[in-house]
Amino acid sequence: MDNLLNRSRAAVWHPCTQMKQLEATPPLAIARGEGPWLIDPDGRRYLDAISSWWVNLFGHCNPRINAAITDQLGKIEHVMLAGATHAPVVELSERLAKLTGLGHAFYGSDGASATEIALKMSAHFWRNSGQPEKNGFISLKNGYHGETVGALSVTDIPLFKTTYEPLLRHTVQVPTPDARLAAPGESAESWALRCAHALEAHLAEHAATTAAFIVEPLVQGAAGMAMYHPAYLARARELCDRYQVHLIADEIAVGFGRTGTMFAFEQAAVLVHTDPYAETASPARPRRSAPAESGDSASSHSGTLFACEQAAVRPDFICLSKGLTGGYLPLSAVLTTDTIYSAFYGDETARGFLHSHSYTGNPLACRAALAVLDIFEHDHVIAANRVKAIEFTGILKEVSAHTRVRHFRHLGMIWAFDVADATPGFSSRFHQSALAQGVFIRPIGNTVYVMPPYVTCADDIRGLADAVLASLDRPDV
Ligand SMILES: Cc1ncc(COP(=O)(O)O)c(C=O)c1O
Repeated sequence: MDNLLNRSRAAVWHPCTQMKQLEATPPLAIARGEGPWLIDPDGRRYLDAISSWWVNLFGHCNPRINAAITDQLGKIEHVMLAGATHAPVVELSERLAKLTGLGHAFYGSDGASATEIALKMSAHFWRNSGQPEKNGFISLKNGYHGETVGALSVTDIPLFKTTYEPLLRHTVQVPTPDARLAAPGESAESWALRCAHALEAHLAEHAATTAAFIVEPLVQGAAGMAMYHPAYLARARELCDRYQVHLIADEIAVGFGRTGTMFAFEQAAVLVHTDPYAETASPARPRRSAPAESGDSASSHSGTLFACEQAAVRPDFICLSKGLTGGYLPLSAVLTTDTIYSAFYGDETARGFLHSHSYTGNPLACRAALAVLDIFEHDHVIAANRVKAIEFTGILKEVSAHTRVRHFRHLGMIWAFDVADATPGFSSRFHQSALAQGVFIRPIGNTVYVMPPYVTCADDIRGLADAVLASLDRPDV
């Protein structure tokens, strides 16, 4: 195994890593996976508590996804999507259209390529509509939308952005509705609506030069699982309509059930279509009628809650990736409206969206995605997760009560808390401590979060809670 680690350090430039630090903390060598477990070459098992960077939904080596990919391998592994098409990409596009109510799917590979596509498509739409000056972008403070040059322009995480600032396009960040920033005694909703005022003030002045507002619905993942009230999204939709600016929902991390509904944006739709909201101490948890807590499970994952009927609160673009293939293969999709699609349709080639990636719509990845959608449907995953989430929250109660823990928060299948007295290097020390106890978890700064594959069971979470508590109890972590 040492040999593999040395070869990895020598030949593999690991992502998001200062390579010198791997001398002290080598990467974990993984030989295979089984459900929520990662297994090293010596047979040691580690709970994949963060779903391998938030991509895995139904476990490693899932027999149903394996079977779909294997079947596709015997047919066609890849064909370019310009000038050709195939059944998996057509079926996936149709099913995603039903789920989101957005009927035109454009494919990329990773999440960042979806962000690039949505930004380009939005600006190009305005150009095709005779308003080329509408090419600016707004995003939330502390937002994250990927790290390619265009995506990094709308990302607001200094650690990733500052170095590359000279390469980036100027964009504007408006205040984040992160519920932790509410004034003492102020509700998450009231704070969200105050933040929406700031968005409105910006739009009132700059709408004529703004193409789109891009937002991570309900949870800003890379900001440290910052959760906020869905009232912000409902108001943002209203404002974007009023000021004629596109709303891009970046559901790359939160799509496919992570927040308790198939897509996070659904929770804004539910807000608009039910009674006025009650104030709640827990951020982003609708008190009544929300699919995260009640309602018919089948309807939430079949798309009827959000798609089709709820046009008023649909985003103009939805970016999907990560869970789209259940964590198997790189695939992203940008879904959009008939209105936007129509603006590109015509005789002139340059009016078309002339963007491409070699692996656009890869058949193997599409088959993995179709298998994922089948599992959602057949296993009533959204409903099952609702029950699981209640149980897991109960198991994590002792963690939430620990003296070092602040802002314990939960939404759907995400749990997070901040560690009050974390000192520099906390993230790495906590990671190592949990790893020694068989849990693979990587805090973001002083925020510890748990985002397990949906196949994780209560016993796994009990083990995780013990590992987290033991790590919090260590004065040297
Ligand atoms: C909200 C969001 N958008 C975009 C991305 C970028 O995705 P990728 O890392 O696949 O490029 C991420 C990745 O974490 C994300 O969380």
